[in-house]
Amino acid sequence: MEAGDFSLFYMDNFTFYSPTYFVFGKDEEINAGHYVKRFGGSKVLIHFGGGSAQKSGLLDKIRSSLKNEGIRFVELGGVKPNPRDGLVYEGINLCRKENIDFILAVGGGSVIDSAKAIAAGAVYDGDFWDYYEGKTVDKALPIGTVLTISAAGSEGSGDSVITKEKGMFKRATTGEALRPKFSILDPALTQTLPAYQTACGITDILAHLYERYLTNTKDVEVTDRMIEALMLTMIKEGPIAVADSNDYQSRANIMWAGMMAHNNSCGVGRSQDWTSHNIEHELSALYDCAHGAGLAVVMPAVFTYNLKHDVMRFAKVAVRVWGVEMDFEHPEVTALEGINTLRRFLKSIGMPGNFAELGAKEEDIDELAHKCCYGDVNTGTTGGFVTLNEDDVKAIYRLML
Ligand code: NZQ
Ligand code: ZN
Repeated sequence: MEAGDFSLFYMDNFTFYSPTYFVFGKDEEINAGHYVKRFGGSKVLIHFGGGSAQKSGLLDKIRSSLKNEGIRFVELGGVKPNPRDGLVYEGINLCRKENIDFILAVGGGSVIDSAKAIAAGAVYDGDFWDYYEGKTVDKALPIGTVLTISAAGSEGSGDSVITKEKGMFKRATTGEALRPKFSILDPALTQTLPAYQTACGITDILAHLYERYLTNTKDVEVTDRMIEALMLTMIKEGPIAVADSNDYQSRANIMWAGMMAHNNSCGVGRSQDWTSHNIEHELSALYDCAHGAGLAVVMPAVFTYNLKHDVMRFAKVAVRVWGVEMDFEHPEVTALEGINTLRRFLKSIGMPGNFAELGAKEEDIDELAHKCCYGDVNTGTTGGFVTLNEDDVKAIYRLML
């Protein structure tokens, strides 16, 4: 039997290597310098976003921590949400000019992803964008992170997502070399987030769990159960964190769940989906909306469209996670109710529910679907759970109107 055939019926063969050193808890960011030194950094690029880390005083703490360890540094701020290639090129040049040997990302997924792109590009002779067109990253400068928003999971992943300004192509790359050497996770740092951004993060974390839950691999009970536990945690803690930005406990649970949702410990040994992410990335590339907000609109549409592919899988998550009663005569009713409950949950935490609320336009659907299936390096289809062509993707976008 071919390995591919085998994997459709049993847990797939896999390797899993996640060497990030996690430092979790209140005020741990004051030890950033210690960890940079421990992982070999002597001249650091501090990379950050649009101002929140400056305003909160976090950057000053990081500077002091590096100074206390005698570590020299230069700074590059200005990473925008949905980070662009322009700043990456700037960072690569800066690293080469200043002989940087370690990059410290202080911020959210956008800052971390930009740092990863710079880390890979700084030690590569070609154009860093090659990595976002299919080349595997096998070499990069070491990076560390100080996370300020629970969402993308980039603090524990080997992934990076960058938008190429020419053509606005938002594409991902992956590689073990991109996994952070260390990540500092202080839940208190997320308390300055607006409720909307907190909710976007919660939505993204749920999406990372769904993308793995929607699998064609049979009998993967251990990872199914891990995903369900993390989803239940998000459903319980999410609304608390949105309602009260000072609630440390909910933010602590969400922060660790966000890392666990995306470092792939829940995704090993099973096929994964990623349809919602691929379809969403076109929205955040074109409209510059928050990734999580885009996912809130995309997920119910994708799940409804793909429901018939495996009704029992959608019914399973409806019953086990959303508390829907199983209708054995009509499992599709149970499955649909699960999707509707997800929709209501997302609305309750303040997420948009359709194209108009997101700022997307019906007349762009053809372009969005074409870019999703054919743009740049894509080959005509998208999706892991169900293979979808351009017409399918158009129909899914229409469900979001
Ligand atoms: O730039 P600043 O001023 O820091 O403001 C940010 C930004 O406006 C703000 N923010 C972050 N922490 C804050 C804060 N404001 C107040 N207090 C704080 N503590 O929040 C806004 C969003 O930040 P961003 O970094 O963009 O958020 P997120 O972590 O959701 O990252 C989104 C990016 O990650 C990509 C997305 O596509 C998107 O580009 N993804 C990366 C993945 C990966 N590398 O593994 C996987 C994900 O699926 C995702 O695609
Ligand atoms: Zn995501």
